Amino acid sequence: MKIAPSILSADFANLERDVKLVEQAGADYIHIDAMDGQFVANLTLGPNIVQAIRPHTKLPLDCHLMVSTPEKLIPAFARAGADIITIHVEATDHIHGAIQMIKNENIAAGVVINPGTSVEVIKPVLGDVDMVLVMTVNPGFGGQSFIESTLGKIEELATLREKHGYHYEIEVDGGITHETIVKCIKAGADVFVAGSYIYDDENPSAAISRLKDACHN
Ligand code: DX5
Ligand code: ZN
Repeated sequence: MKIAPSILSADFANLERDVKLVEQAGADYIHIDAMDGQFVANLTLGPNIVQAIRPHTKLPLDCHLMVSTPEKLIPAFARAGADIITIHVEATDHIHGAIQMIKNENIAAGVVINPGTSVEVIKPVLGDVDMVLVMTVNPGFGGQSFIESTLGKIEELATLREKHGYHYEIEVDGGITHETIVKCIKAGADVFVAGSYIYDDENPSAAISRLKDACHN
């Protein structure tokens, strides 16, 4: 299992400190939430922030693009130092082509589904992706409650991976705590994004340890 702290809940005036802190605490990826104010009702981090963070951590930068027509921004995120780019199937008319665009940048490519989107719509690209991100809240903001009905989709993706020999990691994002993480592990998820659970804690390192411990029990 891997923990991917979302810097959406970090202190933007101290990003270097907050990235190094989670790296030292054993984080596996740094999760970067890009929002364009159109696909979701919030405006956050762009390629310039990825570029600014890049020299300060060795961890892979996991860039979650919550933007309409992600094709327009893939090259800029790749140039800025993204290691993984995930894009929403709901945000493009050309999911297959957009996945290939990411792969042509020689970085890991992932597809994301919102809570209201079924696994069915991404079946044609499951053999092409390195990651499938199952949103466990509606995207746009940190600090929301975990949506239980997403668990069945995690199970479905784990079963499909096994059946077809696919290699994607299953990532979950939204409302992850030491309790909800256990349900996601049981369902078959591998990568756990957590924002507010880690950064809103007065001791973020301890919060990461609690998530890791929950996985091992
Ligand atoms: C939500 C973002 C998440 C968010 C998770 O749209 O994609 O990555 O930061 O925040 P928490 O862990 O607080 O739900
Ligand atoms: Zn995210």
